[in-house]
Amino acid sequence: DEGVVRRDRFSGGPARSFLSSLAADERIFEADLEVDRAHVLMLAEQGIVDDETAGAILTALDAIEVDGHDGLPDGEDVHEAIETAVIERIGEDGGKMHTARSRNDEVATCIRYRLREDVLEAIESTLALRESLLEVAEEHEETIMPGYTHLQPAQPTTVAHWALSYEGAVRRDTARLLEAYDRVNESPLGGAAFAGTTFDIDRERTAELLGFEGVVENSMDASSSRDFLLETVQALSTHATTLSGLAEDVIIFANRGFVDLSDDYSSTSSIMPQKKNPDTLELVRAVAGDAAGAVQGLTTTLKGLPRAYNRDLQRATTHAWETVDAVTEASEVAAGAVATADWNEDVLAAEAGEGFSTATGVADLLAANGLPFRTAHEMVAVAAETGGDYDALAAAAEEVLEEPLESYVEPAAVEEALDPAESVASRNSQGGPAPDAVGDQLESAREALAED
Ligand code: ARG
Repeated sequence: DEGVVRRDRFSGGPARSFLSSLAADERIFEADLEVDRAHVLMLAEQGIVDDETAGAILTALDAIEVDGHDGLPDGEDVHEAIETAVIERIGEDGGKMHTARSRNDEVATCIRYRLREDVLEAIESTLALRESLLEVAEEHEETIMPGYTHLQPAQPTTVAHWALSYEGAVRRDTARLLEAYDRVNESPLGGAAFAGTTFDIDRERTAELLGFEGVVENSMDASSSRDFLLETVQALSTHATTLSGLAEDVIIFANRGFVDLSDDYSSTSSIMPQKKNPDTLELVRAVAGDAAGAVQGLTTTLKGLPRAYNRDLQRATTHAWETVDAVTEASEVAAGAVATADWNEDVLAAEAGEGFSTATGVADLLAANGLPFRTAHEMVAVAAETGGDYDALAAAAEEVLEEPLESYVEPAAVEEALDPAESVASRNSQGGPAPDAVGDQLESAREALAED
């Protein structure tokens, strides 16, 4: 068998394990069997391989599946090892399996076949997180909390408004992953090494058998492009970045006593008995670094690769597996941590007005009563220096406006603007934190989730 002789000649040497992707290919073992089955069936249907040989190959593939990836003979990769195993089982005719294809279109098909499943799981994890966030929002539509910019108290808001801010971002993460999925879900099989084949193959048929939505038409593109990997890893990295912000917020909130994480999502210290640490969320935060690293690694590997297939591509694939696993898990953990956390409403209410966080509302009130907003801003800023309560505002009015505060606005209205809950209730612009506005946001978020 010349093939075997040739293979032996090229399969030894000190670079053997460096060349081999067999261990990492465990991830696409099942995919490769499915791709082999579809290809062989198509070859038989097209009369390229006789039915008897095709049947024997399919039977051998079933037996190989039972033995599992660990039962494979040695090989440079899973494609070669499975082919060798087929030949070992049914003889030289097993080599007909590789008619009209190459490992180049084969591996690209296997990666897409498996990645499809993984991306769906990642999408599921984003849906679970959105569900968790919506449940928090539904439960805490009126739970006042401090809102921050620059990590400084800024304006009071609600837990629902905060949760919906992340739901919106995760909704877009879902959309990006769905889009990536569509481009992963195309079949390169039949592209062969890159240059097509003389055999009368039916690429639409293998695409259909493998559940792909059509083919990657150009055979050189099919066998050698990996932008689908990059797009997927980028979408995952974007989601991981969203997760890292969410994790950071909850870590800070736990630190301030706003929220208690469930024990299931906390960790203790091996020395300090009193400790309850947000380790799971710290790991979620860190996954964004890994994912960003994968985008970088993959981009750098793909950059400047000439057409067509180059073995560099073997090392591109693992970035996708590592990233999709880590980000999906992080997303699931974030969903669980958010769903099980307890919000301390009293602490949140007490903190919501800290740092004169209702100042903007007071300035708005003065502006609504005819004072130019910039003048109102200046006056309230002066009041902020001296405590930011009613008396401070009254004194600032005398100083800056040279008029009593009551000549602009009723004292009761000022007191109302100074109250964090009233402050939130008054901000009912579209997308704002007032319970009415949050109700509308919840409605559109629920609709979008049901659709996705
Ligand atoms: N294991 C390779 C990969 O992951 C596929 C084999 C193609 N090898 C080749 N020498 N053309 O990309």
